[in-house]
Formats: sequence, structure tokens, C-alpha cells
Amino acid sequence: ASEPKYDYIVVGGGTSGLVVANRLSELSNVTVLVIEAGGSVYNNINVTDTGGYGNAFGTDIDWAYKTVEQKWGGGTTQTVRAGKALGGTSTINGMVYLRAQTSQIDAWEKIGNKGWNWENLYPYFKKGEQFQVPTDYSFLEGSGVAYDPAHHGYDGPLKVGWTSTQLNDGLAQVMNTTYQNMSVPIPYNKDPNGGQMIGYTLYPKTVNSDLNIREDAARAYYYPYQSRKNLHVWLHTNVNKLTWKDGAEVTADGVEITFSNGTTTSVKASREVILAAGALKSPLLLELSGIGNPDILSKYDIETKINLPTVGENLQDQMNNGLAYDSKINYTKSPDYVAYPSAEQLFRNATAVGAQLLRKLPAYAAQVASANGNVTRAADIERFFKIQWDLIFKSGIPVAEILLEPSGYTYDTEYWGSVPFSRGNIHISSADPTAPATIDPKYFMLDFDLHAQAQAARLIREIFKTEPFADMAGEETSPGLSTVAANSDDEGWSSFLKSNFRSNFHPITTAGMMPKEIGGVVDTSLKVYGTSNVRVVDASVIPFQVCGHLQSTIYAVAERAADIIKAQM
Ligand code: FDA
Repeated sequence: ASEPKYDYIVVGGGTSGLVVANRLSELSNVTVLVIEAGGSVYNNINVTDTGGYGNAFGTDIDWAYKTVEQKWGGGTTQTVRAGKALGGTSTINGMVYLRAQTSQIDAWEKIGNKGWNWENLYPYFKKGEQFQVPTDYSFLEGSGVAYDPAHHGYDGPLKVGWTSTQLNDGLAQVMNTTYQNMSVPIPYNKDPNGGQMIGYTLYPKTVNSDLNIREDAARAYYYPYQSRKNLHVWLHTNVNKLTWKDGAEVTADGVEITFSNGTTTSVKASREVILAAGALKSPLLLELSGIGNPDILSKYDIETKINLPTVGENLQDQMNNGLAYDSKINYTKSPDYVAYPSAEQLFRNATAVGAQLLRKLPAYAAQVASANGNVTRAADIERFFKIQWDLIFKSGIPVAEILLEPSGYTYDTEYWGSVPFSRGNIHISSADPTAPATIDPKYFMLDFDLHAQAQAARLIREIFKTEPFADMAGEETSPGLSTVAANSDDEGWSSFLKSNFRSNFHPITTAGMMPKEIGGVVDTSLKVYGTSNVRVVDASVIPFQVCGHLQSTIYAVAERAADIIKAQM
């Protein structure tokens, strides 16, 4: 039999891949194949249960990528989770649906990505969204849930709303008053999904509110469309690398794959190969296919097709820590209360912190470049840092996320500085596509990142001391004042933070969308530099961290990517 052939092959049936596959296969004369390493999780209770966050961790649908030992981050390895299933990481994530601050998306254009700004992306957030208008509004108001109808889409595939377990445990108003009573008040924000994120709120999630089950990329973008004759999905199939056409131009003609029974074969694409394997896989597939840093490729006897040394560089993630407290009240539901403080609200002395950081940026940039073998240039990194500095100290993005999670007689909190400056990298460690990669996010490399993390912990301590909430809370059980004393400086917080953090599971920029001269891997049409028909559409392309969680932005980028691809057909 002759090899099967499709117009488009999408590598990875995850969050971004299924969006692109869905939109391309709207054109009935176009054939699309999605190749996914995992299987269907349609009936997997660890996926569907809206209260089951974490239950899928460590199971066979979690890639559980391991970092190298984190030199600045406590010396140990970290596990970075990612979904291995149709639907990708959207099947195991926290379901939070929160976008970015307008100026953060505008920053993408500032570094040379013409057309990638908030105004152009905002319609794509809405295009994908099927906002489920809460029906019992009085009940919702009691729960503190609010929204601005103008900021939502109603006709898209992805259901967004609130679960019953998120609602009404009587704490919303208490927290609102408490935030207003802080020494530097944090205002209430009715709906942070319009691009202005600062404040305290209850966010929506990717859920089917009627059925009270998780909404993931497969339920939104695949299952309702699976009867399309031109849309095929192969599950339990690993893509090993791209295959190339002979000739002067670098043109992919398909991919090499291995089925679960161990058989290796290839499948052809007549138009394009679209990588959507996630930020910790897509750059590796480029390297395995000969696109990357020749010094790395030659180590594993991979012939360099395109010399693009920044493949796998610029890796950015956040660090997640928590404080825990006793509660005087027994909570039966599990709402998440979130606050997004600005620099003023987090640092208090923001002007001084900003001035000090500004002076350090050249040294930070040099340190990041050197720690990454100077593959990315200090001058370029410094420019990115200055843009990030402007976002923090001039345009007022949130600098941290603070989550309060009551359950039973406890309050858990989770928090992270939203925009760490450290950058690391990910590369292959073998020519074998199944070998684990070398992943090094370089958590806590820069002292500003530690400061933001420590300052968020201090803010939480203040919340628990502020009325009326203070009345409802008991002792701090972790770390506890005997471990980290009140008024500890950053050094005093350092050991607790570094030995108890985890990855925030938001890796980005490993195939960054940027001009090539400053380290970009894909151009503004998400095409890999030097190729005629290879694109990357997943979290790898996002050039700067966003302050909301990643998925809404990834869905929107993929929606826009599909339109770009259609326009170039
Ligand atoms: P994604 O991982 O979705 O897709 C990649 C797909 O490619 C996967 O299905 C994978 O199996 C497949 N694949 C990989 N290699 C392959 C190969 N060689 N061959 C074939 N297939 C291959 N965000 C948010 O907005 N709100 C939240 O609450 C959370 N919470 C959260 C919790 C946890 C635990 C995690 C891990 C992440 C989050 N996130 C989040 C982040 C968010 O879910 C994540 O950034 C996106 O889903 C990533 O989408 P991508 O399309 O980039 O990759």
C-alpha cells in the first residue's frame, strides 16, 4: 500500500493542536491528520472531575518531565507536568481561564512581531469562547462572582464558566473587605478577562457548567467534530522527527512516527507540518529534525539542516510556593479567590525597587546570556528585560498571583511572581526521540525573582492578619513563624522558598516568535525561520510570560494561527 498522505499534519493533539486542526478542517477540501502520543481520556474520571485537580499527576497521562538539578533553586530536580492525551495539558490543568494584561500582548509587537498585539488577539479570545452565562444570578452574587458580558464570546467551542463547587461558601465578601482593609488596598476587579487584571476576583474556569465536568480541548474542538471526513486523529502514536524533501529549499514532506506496537513508519504532508507538541517537546522535535544549534546537533550525529541556535533557548517558567493556615470554619466547597497585585501593591516601595532593578538589568542580562552559553545575546536579553521592566513599573501589570483555597478546616494558598526574569533552556540529550531531554529553567537564578516570591509571601501574611478575614483564620502551619520569623528578609525566606517550590507548569518561549536577529525561532506567521512549510503553534512561541494562566492565550494564539495558515493557502 502507498503511504497515507494529508495536506496538513498537526504534531500533538493538545490544547493548541486541536484548535488548529479543527479550524483547518472546516475547509472540506483540506485534509488534516493529528498525531497524538496519548489516548482518549473522554471517560477518565481524573480528567472530568472538576474537583480532581492533581489526581492525574503521576499517572500514564502525565509526561512528568524532569528538569536537571536546579543550581539556584534548592539544588534538586523539578517535575514539570504536561498532559499526554487527546486534549493535551488542558486535560490535567487547573482549568483557570484568565487572559493577560493588554500591555503584555502589545509587548509582543514591541519586539518586532508586527500584528501581534492585544487589539488583534482579543477577538480570538472571544472567538474560541462559549461563555456560559450563570443562570442563578442572586446565588452568584452571594458567591462574589461577576463578569462583564462585553468581555466574553458566546459562540465558540470552548465552554467557560463556574462550577457549582466554586460557588458560595460565604467568603467572597469577607475577602473583598479584607483586601480593601490592607495597608495598601487591592481593589475589587469585576472581570479581569478584559485585559485589566489588577485586583481581587473569582475567576471562571474551562468547565461544562451544566454537567459539572472539565471542558478540555478535545471536548471543545474535537469530539463534536469527529465525524468530519477530512479530519483524522491517530492516537498512541509518537512523532519522532520531521522528514524533508530533497532540494535547495528546506521543505518538510511529512513525519516519522512510531506506533504503540513499536512499528516505525512515515506519513506524508503535501502542504505543511504544524508542531503543537508543547513547549517542552516542539523544540526537541526541531532539533531531532536538524534545526537548531549545530554544536548540539553534531554531538548526536544529527545533520544540521538549518543553523538556528536559539531553538530551545529563552525557556521561562514561574515558581509556585504556598503558605498554609488553620481555619476556624469548616469549608465544604472549594472556591478559589485570586488577587493580582500591582508593583505598588506588592512591593510597597515600588519606586525604589524599580530603580534598583533598572540598574541591575545589564548585569542580569549578561548573567542570563552567560548561563546559557551566550547563545542568546546579552544585548537582546537586556532589551527584553527593559520591556518587562516597563510592563511592571510603568504599565502596571500584576507582579504576582495570590490564590486562597479554603477546604475543610484549612486555608491553602498558592502564589507566584508572575514575571520572573530568569531564562533557561531545553535541548535533546540524544538522537533517540524517546530519551529524556535536558531541561533547565534556572529557577531563582536572579535575586529579583526571589524578592518577588518573598514579597508575595509577606503579602499573604498580611492578608491573614487583616480583618475581617483574620477572625476566621487560625495559625500559620506552613512554614510557620518558627521556621520563617515575622519580618524575615529575603535571605530569611530563601531556604523555605527554594526547598518547597514547584514549577508553576507555565513553560514558554522555547521556539520564540521574534525577529531572527534577536533570537527568534518562528516569524509572525509562526513559520520556522529557514523552512518553507513548518510552523509551531503551541506555548513554545509565546515571547513573554503572561500574567493570567497560559491556556486562554494559547487557545487564542492557535485560533489566530489557523486564520494565518488559511490566508496563506
Ligand atoms: P499541550 O501540552 O496541551 O499539547 C501538546 C500535545 O502534544 C500533548 O497532547 C502531547 O501528548 C502531545 N505530544 C508531545 N510530544 C509528542 C510526540 N512526539 N508525538 C505525538 N504527540 C506528542 N493554564 C491555565 O490557563 N489555567 C490553569 O489552571 C492551568 N493549570 C495548569 C496545571 C498543570 C498541572 C499544568 C501542567 C499546566 C497548567 N496550565 C494552566 C498551563 C496550560 O494548561 C498549558 O500551558 C497548555 O495547555 C499547553 O498547551 P500546548 O498546546 O502548548 O501543549
